Amino acid sequence: MTDRSEGLPLEALWEAPERPFDLVDRRGGAMPAALAERFPGELTIDLGRERPTIVANFVSSVDGVVALGPGKPNAGGGEISGFSDADRYMMALLRALADVVVIGAGTMRVGRRQVWTAAHIQPALAGAIAAWRAEMWLTDNPITIVVSASGNLDPAHAGFNAPDVPVIVATTSAGAERMANLPFGPNVRIATVGNETHVPAGALLEVIRGTGARLALCEGGPHLFGEILRARLVDELFLTVAPQVIGRDSSTHRLGLVEGTVFGEGRGRWASLSSIRRAGDDLFLRYRFEP
Ligand SMILES: NC(=O)c1ccc[n+]([C@@H]2O[C@H](COP(=O)([O-])OP(=O)(O)OC[C@H]3O[C@@H](n4cnc5c(N)ncnc54)[C@H](OP(=O)(O)O)[C@@H]3O)[C@@H](O)[C@H]2O)c1
Repeated sequence: MTDRSEGLPLEALWEAPERPFDLVDRRGGAMPAALAERFPGELTIDLGRERPTIVANFVSSVDGVVALGPGKPNAGGGEISGFSDADRYMMALLRALADVVVIGAGTMRVGRRQVWTAAHIQPALAGAIAAWRAEMWLTDNPITIVVSASGNLDPAHAGFNAPDVPVIVATTSAGAERMANLPFGPNVRIATVGNETHVPAGALLEVIRGTGARLALCEGGPHLFGEILRARLVDELFLTVAPQVIGRDSSTHRLGLVEGTVFGEGRGRWASLSSIRRAGDDLFLRYRFEP
């Protein structure tokens, strides 16, 4: 597959005016020159004062498909984006800003090599990313938080085996029991927070808060996103639209999969558009949800 966005800058097409400084704390701002080369302007995320801020990042096809189906190997976000280098760049910048990256077990199970750090997806920029995090007084890498009801996770997965990446598995008591006998390394901690079948978004928020994080990046998948969306805990959505029509029933492969309706029959949650960028044919949209 050709990488149609290799090396392209994420050109700013439109940005909403910034909010007054005294209302919010901020993460980000000007970035080291090596990162700014492909991202003209600044990347800044407002931080809440009452709870950790949660932003989500997804890539969607133009017909609204974000996942190619459960249990399929090689069916990750890469297949949706066409392995877009510009999309990986955006993802790296967001990971560079985050204290924690939160993923569902289903997302972890797609492949075994993923590590949820910025340097992992843009290794050539590892030095600039490290410098930027140090400037912001952040730890070397974000903590990975994996959410799982079953605890059916592979200890050999690369995401558990980077010694400088702490991992917390937020799981149910059954999940914790299942994991207890598996050979996880000392960087992996199990947080038993759920009921028998499920980790409620509020309990996940407390796990995030317990790390001291002010900014969490949720990288999906759809089920986990649905859970935190329903609890109104998503503050912003960074959505890449890839120029691909997948052409299949998107009702079971779309953003935010939950049982029943999320906000009540016939109702949705509106957001305001705060930024539009493009890299070739990829579109980068940023939406902000009011509390
Ligand atoms: N387009 C994109 O940007 C993007 C981003 C991420 C993922 N994806 C794709 O999405 C697909 C996976 O979809 P998915 O919806 O199954 O992903 P998911 O939300 O990552 O995984 C679902 C699994 O995560 C655990 N989980 C999620 N929420 C939970 C909760 N509240 N409490 C307890 N456990 C919870 C459960 O794990 P257990 O089964 O262990 O109980 C559940 O079966 C993959 O194909 C992936 O590539 C696409």
